[in-house]
Amino acid sequence: MTTPRLVRTRTQLAEALDAAPGTGARARRAVVMTMGALHEGHLALVRAARERADQVVVTIFVNPLQFGPSEDLDRYPRDLEGDLALLAGAGADVVFAPGVEEMYPAGDPVVRVSAGALGERLEGAHRPGHFDGVLTVVLKLMHLVRPDVALFGQKDAQQLMAVRGMVADLDVPVEVVAVETVRDEDGVALSSRNAYLDAEQRRAARALNRSLRAAQAAAEDGAPADEVRRAAADVLGSEPGVVVDYVALVDDTATDVPADRTGRAVLAVAARVGSTRLIDNVVLTLEGR
Ligand code: PAF
Repeated sequence: MTTPRLVRTRTQLAEALDAAPGTGARARRAVVMTMGALHEGHLALVRAARERADQVVVTIFVNPLQFGPSEDLDRYPRDLEGDLALLAGAGADVVFAPGVEEMYPAGDPVVRVSAGALGERLEGAHRPGHFDGVLTVVLKLMHLVRPDVALFGQKDAQQLMAVRGMVADLDVPVEVVAVETVRDEDGVALSSRNAYLDAEQRRAARALNRSLRAAQAAAEDGAPADEVRRAAADVLGSEPGVVVDYVALVDDTATDVPADRTGRAVLAVAARVGSTRLIDNVVLTLEGR
């Protein structure tokens, strides 16, 4: 069990990276970016990073740029001590947990990364500017950490698409690796926001995973795209405790797939359970009848 070194400033980070184990001309460095309130899903990312790199850096930063004015920035769960305890067993070498002034010393950045049209679809349609905020901090953290590999959860499918798009379009020298969604025993995808759910809401939240399973079964039966999407929408729409934001079957640019689509597609859902917004997705292969 390693105790990761906690650093709060970019100067301390640079020193810690030089001193971290595995430093040397051929050492590989991995980064796992988080907003804290860590759970098993984050730890799966850290373990996957450990398998791929000599140095593992975890960043913990609740990034104000990616929250809308009426979103949960103020009440977003923060527990640095708990996070450090979890990371001690997971294989992180360095934890970079800057404050807002350290990340944005001149205030909100004027120059930002744009997610383009992808940033306006699905999550972006419900959370204007969200992906620009995500990409801006992800690129800054990549510059500060200089990783060879960056690991992101498949749970945030559109974020992963946006990051892959940025890395390709801006020639960012990093390998992006997706790590499968971790679920609780009841099928609910792990998320820091699950902490907001009461027992009844938690029961309702299971409908998201049920809807994905219905879509997967339809795809495995050879159903065409519109039937696959409908299978998920029917399940999610019939759960009284859930208000559906979208049920979408999309390609890797978050664009709706045509009815005759075959091959890989992502079935993505978003719904509100009480005042908590949850997202989930499954990657499918459409065979078509
Ligand atoms: O997925 C998250 O937790 C955040 O969007 C990220 C990638 C850490 C950027 O703030």
